[in-house]
Amino acid sequence: MDELAKLRRAARFVQRRIAISPKIGVVLGSGLSDALGRLEGEQRLGWERIPHFPRSTVAGHAGEWAFGFLEKRPVLISRGRVHFYEGYSMSEIVFPIRVMKLLGVERVILTNAAGAINREFSVGDFVLIRDHINLIPDNPLRGENLGELGVRFPNLLDAYSARLRAIAKEAAGGLGLELREGVYIATPGPMYETPAEIEAYRRWGADVVGMSTVPEVIAARHCGLEVLAISVVTNMAAGVGSDRLTHEEVLEITKRRESDLAKLLRAIITKM
Ligand code: HPA
Repeated sequence: MDELAKLRRAARFVQRRIAISPKIGVVLGSGLSDALGRLEGEQRLGWERIPHFPRSTVAGHAGEWAFGFLEKRPVLISRGRVHFYEGYSMSEIVFPIRVMKLLGVERVILTNAAGAINREFSVGDFVLIRDHINLIPDNPLRGENLGELGVRFPNLLDAYSARLRAIAKEAAGGLGLELREGVYIATPGPMYETPAEIEAYRRWGADVVGMSTVPEVIAARHCGLEVLAISVVTNMAAGVGSDRLTHEEVLEITKRRESDLAKLLRAIITKM
């Protein structure tokens, strides 16, 4: 079965089971999957049930989709994502984003946990991603172009919507929440970076570093979705702070920032 047929089959499966048709999709990243709590009228679909969705490589499930209302707007919330370092192919990583497109989603908000390269940033900061640098040695558009979704050579000039960034800043301002802005650099992981790498990335203009999001942004822009992306700074990147980096620390900080992130996302969604 070709990729487009798989995508359509997955979308049909979801449409038959879900009562609403959301225009906004939200991907909640590492440690952030509970941030928005339960939606009004929530309906859930575990990824293991949806045809062709990435299968978890470990016990438990890779993720779930929740459909329902947030601030009276129909939304699709993706709790969790899969990563390149887990061994997934690029088509698997972006499969859910493309199915969102087929379901009629027009705008996506992507969230992630990231390390701060910019010394002016602090642990716990929210960072609006303005642009990216991709170091993951593959991308979802390599190979035959899915012409029904987008063009062979898409632009990434305006990958991170200026319109949505302005909305996010306004929303943060209204809540009295500080919202930084910066460039995200995506590494393949799973190891954290070396101090020399982080120093090099800083010279390239990167402000935060993480192991996700960029493949999803590329696929989303290819198929014409408007993108907003927000990082939660969970640690100072290698060599910037003095600490050894641990995944536990990342999860602890995301837990601590979950409720403010939820407020921010709700305020943004109201204005989208
Ligand atoms: N590096 C890469 N990915 C990350 C980090 C980091 O320091 N923190 C959270 N995700």
